[in-house]
Amino acid sequence: MKRTKISALLQMIPQGQMVNLKGWVRSFRNNQFVALNDGSTLHNFQVVLNMKAVGEGMLKRITSGACISVTGSLLASQGKGQSAEVMAKEIEVLGDCDPEKYPLQLKNRPSLEYLREIAHLRFRTNTFGAVFRVRNTLAYAVHQFFNEKGFVYLNTPVITASDAEGAGEMFRVTTLNIKNPPLNENGEIDFREDFFGRSTNLTVSGQLEGELGAMALSEIYTFGPTFRAENSNTTRHLAEFWMIEPEMAFYDLNDNMDIAEEMLKYVIKYALEKNNHDIDFLAKRAEEEEKQKPQQERAEMGLLEKLKFSVEHDFARITYTEAIEILRNCNHNKKKKFQYLVDSWGIDLQSEHERYLVEKHFKKPVILTDYPKAIKAFYMRQNDDEKTVRAMDILFPGIGEIVGGSQREERLEKLEQRMRECNLPIQELNWYLDTRRFGGCPHAGFGLGFERLVQFVTGMGNIRDVIPFPRTPKNAEF
Ligand code: 4AD
Ligand code: MG
Repeated sequence: MKRTKISALLQMIPQGQMVNLKGWVRSFRNNQFVALNDGSTLHNFQVVLNMKAVGEGMLKRITSGACISVTGSLLASQGKGQSAEVMAKEIEVLGDCDPEKYPLQLKNRPSLEYLREIAHLRFRTNTFGAVFRVRNTLAYAVHQFFNEKGFVYLNTPVITASDAEGAGEMFRVTTLNIKNPPLNENGEIDFREDFFGRSTNLTVSGQLEGELGAMALSEIYTFGPTFRAENSNTTRHLAEFWMIEPEMAFYDLNDNMDIAEEMLKYVIKYALEKNNHDIDFLAKRAEEEEKQKPQQERAEMGLLEKLKFSVEHDFARITYTEAIEILRNCNHNKKKKFQYLVDSWGIDLQSEHERYLVEKHFKKPVILTDYPKAIKAFYMRQNDDEKTVRAMDILFPGIGEIVGGSQREERLEKLEQRMRECNLPIQELNWYLDTRRFGGCPHAGFGLGFERLVQFVTGMGNIRDVIPFPRTPKNAEF
């Protein structure tokens, strides 16, 4: 008999019809009621067993974690908590699960930290089931948003010879023998003998290649893994994360901000509609977590309220210079409550500053523009003041920076000059500069950190809990 998913069973009218369902046992009580989950929805489905029909030997094998297949009749349920249930006629154990050894006993609720150590099993919990269904919906919504607008999904390389951000935070890719690498005349490693005949690394961003695409297809977006060897052990950094990078010809910074804001609202709204049960569940989880925190650290809004608020209100838009003024003059700074005091123009904003602007001052998402050029990447368009660039960062409550982008420097001379100032290898990036030589145009783009978006929508406090297998310093398990 063909299997019906639990999500579909819940939509059916129970009339005693025979159905088959398969899934993992969440709980088994009174030797009679099995709560079965197959991941298609947050909800478990109740299976009722008739002890005589099932037999003692089989009963023992129905333990939490076991995988079973049940065929039986779909009936309206007498009990509380569910509208339908299946009265089992036939049961087959597809995979036994030793209850003594199974680490996910529901009795004592496992902590998120512990679940990270058994990340191969954590999908089986309500929390992670919900998180990864929401993650899937957000990815789908991103593709839908850009496709509705006629953007072309472009795949940029994972292995590359260039450092798109110029920040030197790359993982090397090599097939050279690290014990005994070939050396050149100067005694340095000779990468001419490496697999690609040159030094290569994992990409930190697909932007430069994305710009090439936009200079022909007008509007493109990438959605792929990116890698950063920055030694940041925080709740918002991963060494391997997924980034969405749209790049648009003929867009200036305002167009760039408009589409970024529209996209964020679109995908959040989409998830709120499609995954309302999951998000309701995650909201309750987040609320309980908030209660553990001291009063002054608690978020003012619950998860649902925060999500609805973000899609219904315009994001605040201010320049870096205005932000510095706000921060410099705020009581928090005057009372020296920031770890890093804000005393002068030009400093890089710390996450405590970003969060102050978003959570305390504006109380909504904020787009900061026109940063000092010294703290931003080489490709950003220079303003006439010679001090700032057409950058934009979008800051979200509880997250900080979720998007980083800019209008690009399309003027060849200015770009080359900036690359020289930053000591970047102009020769090696000749292919990139060709876009400025052969029919260049004003253009802009941004990068959205996908895990930070998933964090925002699920209310999960640690970025390691929104990617199936997190990669962080000293951790590449599974
Ligand atoms: O601000 P970033 O470094 O910008 C770029 O890479 C540009 N090339 C994007 C572009 O204009 N096409 O990164 C963009 C976003 C950040 O705002 C953040 O959300 C996320 O990527 N991000 C990370 N997410 C998780 N872990 C990390 N280590 C991240 N680094 C950046
Ligand atoms: Mg950034």
